[in-house]
Amino acid sequence: MDERQWAERLASRIHEKELAVAQRNAERIPYTAVDGVFDDRSGAQDICWWTNGFWAGQLWQLYHAFGEPRYRAVAEGIEEKLDQNLMNHMGMDHDSGFKWLLSAGANYRLTGSERAKNRALLAADNLAGRLNLKAGLIRAWNDPGTGENAGLAIIDCMMNLPLLYWASEVTRDPRYAQIAVCHADSAARAFIRPDGSVRHIVVFDPDTGAVTGEPGGQGMGPGSSWTRGQSWALYGFTLSHRHTGRAAYLSVAERVADRILARLPDSGLMPVDYDQSPDCTWEDDTAAAITACGLLELAPRTDEARAAACRAAAVKLLRVLAEQRCLWDSAVDPLLSRCSAAYHDSVHDFPIIYGDYYFTEAVLRLCGKEAFLW
Ligand code: GLY
Repeated sequence: MDERQWAERLASRIHEKELAVAQRNAERIPYTAVDGVFDDRSGAQDICWWTNGFWAGQLWQLYHAFGEPRYRAVAEGIEEKLDQNLMNHMGMDHDSGFKWLLSAGANYRLTGSERAKNRALLAADNLAGRLNLKAGLIRAWNDPGTGENAGLAIIDCMMNLPLLYWASEVTRDPRYAQIAVCHADSAARAFIRPDGSVRHIVVFDPDTGAVTGEPGGQGMGPGSSWTRGQSWALYGFTLSHRHTGRAAYLSVAERVADRILARLPDSGLMPVDYDQSPDCTWEDDTAAAITACGLLELAPRTDEARAAACRAAAVKLLRVLAEQRCLWDSAVDPLLSRCSAAYHDSVHDFPIIYGDYYFTEAVLRLCGKEAFLW
């Protein structure tokens, strides 16, 4: 079986399982699962949770690939629910790309819905307003008016910039893309270390923009390489290159990719941090899936040798996930089984919805069936 046939079989297997999962979970917005059953973040307490677009994104990807109306109906329901978030200023943060590109943005791209376009543009307006002009960085999290988080930026935000590029495309107003480019330029300077590894959090003085710190964030510690952070940088800078054509972003993505390729374990199983002890068995399937997506996006933009290495590594990561980490039983809600939110959390190796999203996106891409949602 060649690679394409393998990917097509895998995509059919995902479809077979996810149709059953979508039928059982029409009203939920899952983040994780307990004993194989999705939780639900759609209630008033959790509706602003940063991962609330991924299930919709996965459903739109599958709708695009297989045309099953059930997927679309469930995704549209999630988009409606997210309006509670859109109307909650404190619930709007740097993660609006994850939430609205994959829900309303996907709907607009695939169906032309004007209501959906309106939602995604409102989210883009809010994201654009988070730029700190002195630092040239989009502020990360909120705080209750204390200013304690006013000077924080995180590498994850690179994946939210496509909401701004998209907004400029549909409105023909360059301001959104200008803000995305401003953040990407500053992030290339502030987050990428000389060896191609990537910081998670950068602290800056919100009045002067001066960088004052580099805490370990969700990785092992200051100076370490949190695997999901590396994958956000890889995919994020590659997408910024796709949207702007700027060579500087491609060069950053190549440096980050080279570092990742040099550090991927032979097993193909992703640690939580590339610097964690060999005795530490914690894994992060989400980082594996996002890395695969980033490598597949980078491959056609880079030189032949790196492209071949990127593609081979992506396929290996996906094969290992499919064979060793996927829960293929249709009675079980999640797909990937061993994800970690953060190195210092007390709980590791559990399902997380964005792992399922990126795994699905990567597999569909390998068989030419993915929707471009970024
Ligand atoms: N954006 C937060 C994370 O990657 O966990």
